[in-house]
Amino acid sequence: MNGVTAKRRTALVTGANRGLGKAVCEALAGLGHRVVVAGRDERGARCVAAEIGGDTVPVALDVTDDGSVRRCRKRVGAVDILVNNAGVLLDGGTSPSSVPLDLVERHLQVNTVGAWRVSQAFLPDMMERGWGRIVMVSSGTGAFSNGLFPGAPAYSVSKAALNAVTVLLAEEARDRGVLVNAVNPGRVRTRMYPNAERTPREAAVDVAWAATLPGNGPTGVFLRGRRPIPW
Ligand SMILES: NC(=O)c1ccc[n+]([C@@H]2O[C@H](COP(=O)([O-])OP(=O)(O)OC[C@H]3O[C@@H](n4cnc5c(N)ncnc54)[C@H](OP(=O)(O)O)[C@@H]3O)[C@@H](O)[C@H]2O)c1
Repeated sequence: MNGVTAKRRTALVTGANRGLGKAVCEALAGLGHRVVVAGRDERGARCVAAEIGGDTVPVALDVTDDGSVRRCRKRVGAVDILVNNAGVLLDGGTSPSSVPLDLVERHLQVNTVGAWRVSQAFLPDMMERGWGRIVMVSSGTGAFSNGLFPGAPAYSVSKAALNAVTVLLAEEARDRGVLVNAVNPGRVRTRMYPNAERTPREAAVDVAWAATLPGNGPTGVFLRGRRPIPW
């Protein structure tokens, strides 16, 4: 699993106004790709695009909003690479027996259905064109093999469900030139996890690698540091 796609591609990254998403935009731009910097707050997306420079396009995108996704798709057109990075962790310190269920729904709306919604907007074109890469930014807390995380149960369930969506989309896109994988970036120092050791730039290299896999790369797998890990 060496090497990256040599051709210049158009990549869209969600939740790109900060944290890991921003670093993934920088990494993909550094590889020479055109990057669509998609942020819920368009001003934030514009700032990031201006900071990166080159061929970057800022766009407003709230992954929970059908209209926003439709407008984004219309404005941007087809893309080759989609990184579903947008995510929330709002239930740290709760427990499975008491976490408010509206909070559970909120996590599912953003982390699971949001990524699914944006994938539905862009995957059909990828399959039609016979080339595409989708990366779901998942988490070790969503891995049964790792032990789900009772200290953030809604987040954990939303990422386990995101892993399931990854497998299903990968299966549908198999043999259509589209690779769909999930990445566990580890603990990354962002607003979500301010005390983590790993820098967004370090984690972004792995995400960008999964987003630019060659045609013989894996699909329907969970990656950690470029290696498949158990779900
Ligand atoms: N940090 C870690 O240790 C870690 C570990 C494993 C997985 N992850 C995953 O990595 C991804 C990036 O997280 P991060 O660490 O960079 O956290 P972050 O700094 O909190 O960034 C989260 C991003 O998601 C965006 N977002 C939230 N709701 C959205 C919505 N409805 N529509 C569009 N964008 C939305 C945020 O936009 P706003 O700025 O507008 O809020 C922000 O850009 C997440 O999926 C997270 O679960 C992180």
